[in-house]
Amino acid sequence: MLNKSTFEDGSYFLQRFLQSPKHIASVWPSSRFLADQMFHDLNLTSGDVVIEYGPGTGSFTQRVERLRNSGTILRYLGVEKDPGMHQYLTRRFPELEFVLGDAVDVLEFCKARALPAATAVISGLPMVLMNHRTVYGIFAATRDCLRADGVFRTFSYMHSYPSRRAAELRDLMRQCFEEYELSRPVVRNLPPAFTLTGRTPRVAPLHHSR
Ligand SMILES: C[S@@+](CC[C@H](N)C(=O)[O-])C[C@H]1O[C@@H](n2cnc3c(N)ncnc32)[C@H](O)[C@@H]1O
Repeated sequence: MLNKSTFEDGSYFLQRFLQSPKHIASVWPSSRFLADQMFHDLNLTSGDVVIEYGPGTGSFTQRVERLRNSGTILRYLGVEKDPGMHQYLTRRFPELEFVLGDAVDVLEFCKARALPAATAVISGLPMVLMNHRTVYGIFAATRDCLRADGVFRTFSYMHSYPSRRAAELRDLMRQCFEEYELSRPVVRNLPPAFTLTGRTPRVAPLHHSR
């Protein structure tokens, strides 16, 4: 059953998808089951910096709010490229900060706010569909804004697993992080998805596969 806020988020998400399908890339927001997996085992504590790319209508952001309500006050920055989504987020989560911009510029956004290195970067970006150069740029900047023991987590849909772009994404994860793992499938998300987690960013330069 959909509750009121899930329905409102979904309706707005669908509306933005119809206006800008290439950037929104999905017709409906991620489920709470995928949100659980995105925050699984992050062991966040008050004062940790968490950066979110592409929060959309806030499926994952809700967890930051929930942690805050239970006394874990994170330093959060959401980076959202879509002006409509950005406005929706700032209204829905007035206590959190969202910048209207591209995730590739994350370092600039962090520097402008004098944010310490991030404990976790979570991404809702449709990386498998995005421009190759932009994805490389985002990975390079992400490594630079994470703590030495920081975590980067993104998700991908199961059906795209065999594609070349999905294989490139997995290769980038391996290149960028000392430890890299895929989660079990989250089959209650529509479409089913899994998360990709990289821990401990490497310092070696990125190798472009094309
Ligand atoms: C598939 S939606 C995911 C939304 C939300 N995280 C979820 O899982 O329901 C992708 C979101 O990323 C945003 N986006 C796409 N490219 C972006 C970029 N380069 N930088 C920041 N946000 C971007 C879109 O506007 C959209 O809100």
